[in-house]
Amino acid sequence: MKILITYFSNTGNTKKIAKSIKEALSDEEVELTPINEVDPLSFNNYDLVFLGSGIYASRVNKALVELVSSAPELPQNFVFFSTHASLVGYQDGFKLVKRKIGNVSKIIAEFDCCGDNLGIPEDTRNSMLDKLPPEKRKEAEKHQQWLKGRPNEEDLKKAKEFARSVVEKL
Ligand SMILES: Cc1cc2nc3c(=O)[nH]c(=O)nc-3n(C[C@H](O)[C@H](O)[C@H](O)COP(=O)(O)O)c2cc1C
Repeated sequence: MKILITYFSNTGNTKKIAKSIKEALSDEEVELTPINEVDPLSFNNYDLVFLGSGIYASRVNKALVELVSSAPELPQNFVFFSTHASLVGYQDGFKLVKRKIGNVSKIIAEFDCCGDNLGIPEDTRNSMLDKLPPEKRKEAEKHQQWLKGRPNEEDLKKAKEFARSVVEKL
């Protein structure tokens, strides 16, 4: 089975997940390629594509939609993966990609995990905290602490288990 793992990652969190997926599938023929290096013309050369992105303003990066739109033929099977900092509002991130894929391919599984918000500088994050009322601030600080360093070893382990279970079921 030929597998492509491709992703958009602004600050490296989603890339960590992508690399873990590759490590987990070392018995297969796997390519790991950033999304901007994927040739749309050979996109359907793969039996399975793991397609990933961070979530930005509730959506995956537009490079995913562009790839799926510009490929003359799509692979048969997709697995989506994402990282996100919030616990709400990320669930619909692949909406436009799903719309483009329509019924052409199967989306056989999805994986997501938390990713530290490294794209927002710490002083900006702190000034955002300063604007919150005390109770909300406490909650947000707790959330920031919980996000720190994610995806962590446990997250990467889950990503590997997930990837293996997907391929075993195919
Ligand atoms: C400009 C920007 C917008 C973001 N918007 C969201 C969002 O809407 N929902 C969310 O859960 N996380 C959001 N995040 C957090 C990222 O999804 C999270 O940190 C993710 O792990 C980044 O992945 P990457 O390191 O692969 O780019 C945003 C981050 C940035 C920098």
